Amino acid sequence: MADDETQLIVGVPKESFPGERRVAIVPATVAALKRAGIGVLVESRAGESAGFPDQQYTDKGATIVASRAEAFAADIILQVRAAGANPDCGREDLALMRSGQVVIATCDPLSEPNSIAEVAEKHVTCFSLEMVPRITRAQSMDVLSSMATVAGYRAVLLAATTLPRMFPMMMTAAGTLAPAKALIIGAGVAGLQAIATARRLGAVVSSYDVRPAVKEQVESLGAKFVELDLETEKSESSGGYAKAMDEDFYRRQQELMGRVVGESDFVITTAAIPGKKAPELITADAVRRMAPGSVIVDLAAERGGNCALTKPGETVVEHGVTILGPLNLPADIPYHASEMFAKNISTFLLLLVQDGQVAINLEDEIIKDTLLTHGGEVVNNRIRELLELEPIVDRSNESTEIAEPVSESVSED
Ligand code: NAI
Repeated sequence: MADDETQLIVGVPKESFPGERRVAIVPATVAALKRAGIGVLVESRAGESAGFPDQQYTDKGATIVASRAEAFAADIILQVRAAGANPDCGREDLALMRSGQVVIATCDPLSEPNSIAEVAEKHVTCFSLEMVPRITRAQSMDVLSSMATVAGYRAVLLAATTLPRMFPMMMTAAGTLAPAKALIIGAGVAGLQAIATARRLGAVVSSYDVRPAVKEQVESLGAKFVELDLETEKSESSGGYAKAMDEDFYRRQQELMGRVVGESDFVITTAAIPGKKAPELITADAVRRMAPGSVIVDLAAERGGNCALTKPGETVVEHGVTILGPLNLPADIPYHASEMFAKNISTFLLLLVQDGQVAINLEDEIIKDTLLTHGGEVVNNRIRELLELEPIVDRSNESTEIAEPVSESVSED
């Protein structure tokens, strides 16, 4: 149990989403939280599948608790997936939450707003890390970026082990082998990492993105930027994300992409529009143009997929082309994914906790944008709109201190 009876306690339950192997806090982060006066309860075996046994947490000063309920006795719950990001098993956690408690996790609020309303009913204060704004100060808290980095890397490894070819050009006594030709569609965080990884393995890489600003980044990684005759000047929103384009745009893009797709040995697609279904960019006809044995890894599978033939969570072979639709690639590299996630969530936590208390400073745009529920209400206007609720007027000059430490009751449990 915590050294100081009055300190804030965070609880780290074992992830319950099927196949999830990450953990929200790694042993190295426990030390950083302890230094900030925050005690840590970890559910037994929470880190095991990521490569962090209980003993390592204990060595760093955390307390291992046997049950999920004991981990939920903490003031603040830190999870990789809560609410909408764990729609079935996460609902069972609602019974363990109590009024005034704080939950920090990925919650998928834009796709699953109803699950956020359920959390609000429990009078829990919930912060969703996907809503961290894309500003320089928030980079170290940006789970979307860190997990996209892992996914982009892993997607290339999947392509490499599925493709019946090697990536690099090889001049051997047994003949010269041509390098594999890669196409990366969507050069955001995942796409740029996929480009870098495919290049390291020796593939010849091309890439396309609707945001023209990306061309320079693609070229700086040694890939060729594919130029398509499309009007893309208004494709970027103020947050740096792509905007949804109209149907005509996507139809034209599908036509123009078809040829490039057909010439590629493997394609990795990452194109996403936040909160929306992924745009369909590779038609069945384009797949038919690929050589037998070619591979598509569709990183947008969770949002429906960028390829018309993708089946989310499955691997299918169509027209001799293998199409993979992985749903949770960061969980396949759980050690480093957890290390990065833990850095992100603990940096956020240390912003939120001021003088040993949770302080909701709505003047801070990181706090304001990530706060979803408080005082029994959904307080984030983006989510209220999805729930067809009236917007809440701007409260940006308010600042609230909540969550008195409950460590005494925790210690008694
Ligand atoms: P994302 O996961 O929402 O989308 C992936 C990529 O798909 C994006 O680059 C997007 O432009 C592209 N895309 C969308 N529709 C497309 C289409 N029809 N065809 C081809 N590509 C399409 O985006 P992600 O990777 O999360 O981030 C996007 C950008 O956000 C970054 O490149 C960067 O500019 C900015 N960013 C800023 C950060 C900061 O300042 N703290 C941190 C991370 C990202």
